[in-house]
Amino acid sequence: MGQPASLDLFARKKRLGEKCVVLTAYDLASARAAAAGGVDALLVGDSLGNVIQGHDTTLPVTIDDMVYHTRLVARAATGLPVIADLPWGSFHVDPADTVRAAVRLLKEAGAHAVKLEGGRKREAHLRALLDAEIPVMGHLGLTPQSVLRLGGFKVQGRGEAAAAAILADAAFLAAAGCFAMVLECVPATLAARITAEVGCATVGIGAGAGCDGQVLVYHDLLGMFPEWQPKFVRRYAELGRVAAEAIAAYAADVRAGGFPGPEHAFGDENGQA
Ligand code: KIV
Repeated sequence: MGQPASLDLFARKKRLGEKCVVLTAYDLASARAAAAGGVDALLVGDSLGNVIQGHDTTLPVTIDDMVYHTRLVARAATGLPVIADLPWGSFHVDPADTVRAAVRLLKEAGAHAVKLEGGRKREAHLRALLDAEIPVMGHLGLTPQSVLRLGGFKVQGRGEAAAAAILADAAFLAAAGCFAMVLECVPATLAARITAEVGCATVGIGAGAGCDGQVLVYHDLLGMFPEWQPKFVRRYAELGRVAAEAIAAYAADVRAGGFPGPEHAFGDENGQA
């Protein structure tokens, strides 16, 4: 027993002018590596639809998928706040269903907060969540769950009207009580303006350096898919290549009789080493 991981860090860091570092995690290994690397919070993103399940969009991800992966991350017991995405379809119909979905993420899976894409359009759902004492992170700009309506994964908030709409949504999310919001693929000037004007922390991805923090997808940061290099990602490793090279060395050893060696074997049937 003890205090649960605190989401206060987002407000505190914004006040102090310190950056919040968020990384996605989907299982034990990614959660442990992210914690060992010193991030501030873990996001179980519905990007798992892309990087774990191999879909082109996040639309097929279900609440059961999110509960499963959030549970794996929470079980890593890193002591970090775990924020879980509400998947597409789980917060679009009846606000009571939205609360039920979020309660599953907290109660069954161990999340500390949920993330929800969209602004004023989702007002009833956001208010129902906050009313149920569920901390919420917002998500504006390129909201991947809107990919069909947007006609692709495109930068959002270009032009006066589009920028004003995102600014108004950001002000709404902050006033409603979100503890933070993701700003994805918006012009850096717009993200900086939102960061300066709203009271809650902004966490950018493809939104420039003016946000209160940054978030990246675990597999992107580590270069696990060599062929995937979006403009907003900086790779800090080439794990996809390193993994393929290690596996090729293993395969070559097995084929040449070099693995297993005597040191990997369990001796003879008489118990001799
Ligand atoms: O699903 C996700 O991983 C996300 C982040 C990229 C912000 O929403």
